Amino acid sequence: MRSAPIVAVDGPAGAGKSTVARRLAARLGFTYVDSGAMYRTVGLAARRLGLDPADEAAMNRLMTDLGRLVLRTEGERTRVWLDSEEVSDAIRTPEAGEWASRVSRSPAVREGLKGFQRRMGEAGGVVMEGRDIGTVIFPDAEFKFFLTASLEVRARRRHAEWAEKGGESALEKTVEQIEKRDYNDRSRCLAPLSVPPGAVTVDTSGLTVDEVVDLLFRRVKAEPPGGRAG
Ligand code: DC
Repeated sequence: MRSAPIVAVDGPAGAGKSTVARRLAARLGFTYVDSGAMYRTVGLAARRLGLDPADEAAMNRLMTDLGRLVLRTEGERTRVWLDSEEVSDAIRTPEAGEWASRVSRSPAVREGLKGFQRRMGEAGGVVMEGRDIGTVIFPDAEFKFFLTASLEVRARRRHAEWAEKGGESALEKTVEQIEKRDYNDRSRCLAPLSVPPGAVTVDTSGLTVDEVVDLLFRRVKAEPPGGRAG
């Protein structure tokens, strides 16, 4: 029996999941878990070792030898370490996003990270964000949300985030990258991005972050497991 609920937040790249999930967790006093950061770290490791994400034997070995993955939320950011190396910035480049999406098709990678994610969330009191949290990782989550937004809005957000970090790229390139990521994430055989049964879908295109956080917060507070609060 969980002492507090699990909140699953899924959706495509740029739908606003990270910021919303992090702030929602802070407001609820829950732990925030960014599952995408885990795929990004595995993608970075694969790239550095020159491994082919389609080579399942190589992905199996990579997961066995990966080392210790540590995630910590500090204010508005998730810090990530692989063994003693901090990879927080290295995993946030557009290229790392593409590698994350590529390794995320591997059964060995998904299986390895599934165990890690379940251990991090099983006690409850978490907001976990990703692509398959409400479908595969915690299909029994007490609250499931699916955030979405138009392709243009999502590309603009990702582009702005990247520019803020000093990165350079044309908006058209970001649109292309997001379209490719969407296609990869939705078309893979294993745990494809899809709306979990029973999830509340929120189109964030015309909403501010605070409005989305508010909407989710009110749903969680008004509907505790076991019945509606009076
Ligand atoms: O949310 P993000 O952009 O950091 O995720 C990077 C990639 O990782 C995404 O394109 C697909 C993969 N991913 C996944 O397959 N399952 C998750 N639960 C989270 C991310």
